[in-house]
Amino acid sequence: MEYKIRDIDLAVEGSRKIGWALEHMPVLAKIREDFAKNRPLKGVKIAACLHVTPETAALMITLREGGAEVRLTASNPLSTKDDVAASLVKDHGVPVFAIHGEDRESYYENIERAASFNPQITMDDGGDLTTYLHQNGLTGGVLGGTEETTTGVIRFRAMERDGALMYPIIAVNDSRTKYLFDNRYGTGQSTIDGILRATNLLIAGSNFVVCGYGWCGRGVAMRARGMGARVIVTEVDPIKALEAHMDGFTVMPIERAAEIGDFFVTVTGDKNVIGRSAIEKLKSGAILANSGHFDVEIDKKALYDLAERVEEARPQVKRFILKDGRKIYLLSDARLVNLSAAEGHPPTVMDMSFANQALAALYILENSDKLENRVYTLPYEIDERIARLKLESLGVEIDSLTPEQKRYLENWREGT
Ligand code: ADE
Repeated sequence: MEYKIRDIDLAVEGSRKIGWALEHMPVLAKIREDFAKNRPLKGVKIAACLHVTPETAALMITLREGGAEVRLTASNPLSTKDDVAASLVKDHGVPVFAIHGEDRESYYENIERAASFNPQITMDDGGDLTTYLHQNGLTGGVLGGTEETTTGVIRFRAMERDGALMYPIIAVNDSRTKYLFDNRYGTGQSTIDGILRATNLLIAGSNFVVCGYGWCGRGVAMRARGMGARVIVTEVDPIKALEAHMDGFTVMPIERAAEIGDFFVTVTGDKNVIGRSAIEKLKSGAILANSGHFDVEIDKKALYDLAERVEEARPQVKRFILKDGRKIYLLSDARLVNLSAAEGHPPTVMDMSFANQALAALYILENSDKLENRVYTLPYEIDERIARLKLESLGVEIDSLTPEQKRYLENWREGT
């Protein structure tokens, strides 16, 4: 079997981590049970470009139980857990092409290795594999792909608009059982976790600036408030800004927030959100972190231009000593702080995200003759099924409508 990983001898620790994730992903376990019984993905080749974590390993194992042949490559060089990669190869026979900290060249060579397997289904987190297949004219045999994250969905919608999309994409990110939980509670918790592990500083009493009030930004702002910070939100969207304001956060432009912030987290999906002029206004000691998919949100070039020297302050923390004497700290090289400095989202929330991924693969297979080269959201029934399974696993019971209540909702004449 072909693979490219750091060290196969790391498999023992990787296996423990995968075991822990499997134990805490009950919805995926239920799907895996069904897959093992019915083998609905028998012989289907799936290439996945996802963060190589224990939770992703649980997804790979599930797809294999469904009969698929899978290959896994990384969606970010810093999120790869080498021990997990080793266990996937050694214990589960899954070809993995990913090494923690690999350079850009190795990252793309590994994507090429996943692509050269001629997949029928692609799974992306950020869109790099699908983009590679499109740019190299390799989309011929692909029935469809899935996309895990907001940034990737934005990329694919731009391709759809340009008529450049060569196969259908299921925007897993846009399932309610994904973005309402993974983006909000997952990013909220794992971002704070990454900042704490990297810095070991106190959040209570700090001015904590969250750039972007999408679902991820809401989660980060909510959790920072829970830790006792004074949370400031920056936004460009007037409706989201208004929501942040009414949720009780202070809203202001980044140029003003720059002057008072102690911690900054970017979660917008766009570039130079903390740009040169904001960096010029930062207080000495400011800590900058990113939880958006790509490392474009903080203007790293400006930081290097303004720096007299750059030091390794701690693992995952660079200290920029600027020419004017200020010290600015950058976490995880402005890459996803939650996956670089911490372990990403907990398995308990990835459970629903990856249940969506597994069912999206099945959906593509069962509907490929009907799907056009467009971006789709999974049908509501699938979302609802995942939510019900999650509730069941949590032991939470809910009510259902009586026939009378159903009739009332359907009958527009009946008002009083
Ligand atoms: N994205 C965020 N957290 C993740 C995790 N734990 N595994 C895979 N992808 C993730």
